[in-house]
Amino acid sequence: MTLEVTRTIAELRPQLDRARSGGARIGFVPTMGALHRGHLRLVEEARRLTDLVLVSIFVNPTQFGPGEDFARYPRSLPDDLSQCEAAAVDRVFAPDVGEMYPDGDDTRVRVGKLAETLCGPHRPGHFEGVATVVAKLFSIVGPSTAVFGRKDYQQLRIVQRMATDLRLPVTVVGVPTVRDADGLALSSRNAYLTPEERARARQIPRALAAAHACFAAGERRVSALLELVHGHVEKAATSIDYVALADPMTLDVFDRDRRLSSPTLLALALRIGNTRLIDNIVLGQDECP
Ligand code: PAJ
Repeated sequence: MTLEVTRTIAELRPQLDRARSGGARIGFVPTMGALHRGHLRLVEEARRLTDLVLVSIFVNPTQFGPGEDFARYPRSLPDDLSQCEAAAVDRVFAPDVGEMYPDGDDTRVRVGKLAETLCGPHRPGHFEGVATVVAKLFSIVGPSTAVFGRKDYQQLRIVQRMATDLRLPVTVVGVPTVRDADGLALSSRNAYLTPEERARARQIPRALAAAHACFAAGERRVSALLELVHGHVEKAATSIDYVALADPMTLDVFDRDRRLSSPTLLALALRIGNTRLIDNIVLGQDECP
């Protein structure tokens, strides 16, 4: 099947209804475009699990704060479409803002405790914007499976929680982070980095790898692991939003005086120049950057 691009909900719904009534399971990969190999890995997973793969490309205004990069977020629809075509995506949904947020729009999905830690306090309203747009997209697309990246670990957990709580008939799958050769997690925002900043950003995967090795060697003190990570990123970062060890399910952040006793999320967010980067690994699982 060749790639079809649909811009309106009115056109998309009957197309997908037809596919579903023919027995096709729909696999959904929501994105904001500026596609890279990380996104394409999600597409592969959707392909593997379902019959028809739909990618949405929508830079969602409600998940950006007032001082954030909504206006300058990279937009590259023609290139995105050729990548989708090459990846055998069946359909792309690329609505405009008015299509997703009708005149008078006044409804939001409120996220609870999972949005109170890690990135939540640093990006007020961000996860509410994510949950709102993902709920809308799920209701428009009706996927049996939706695929998200573990790169945005907190987002993945929030979307899984939302799907469970709102009783949405969709399985939300998380895919491991795809990294560049030097370990830096692929991100559309890496395009903002100057070559000098890009070199500094390598400290992020180095820090995570060091923590992984230290944990594997038996270190369980939260304070020691946090200090190790800080030591790696402090000089490279313009500022650090947080470095945290947290419960991978509840995202509750562990106190410094605690010892780890089960798999633990190591997550960080920092700025290099004006670019905010996030990354994470789960210590105690086999994933080293
Ligand atoms: P975006 O940043 O475009 O990411 C789309 C999906 O790709 C997310 O599930 C994200 O976790 C995943 N992803 C990004 N980089 C990745 C990498 N290096 N490896 C694996 N997966 C990666 O996340 C969003 O858009 C938006 O918040 C969205 C969910 C579309 C709602 O607007």
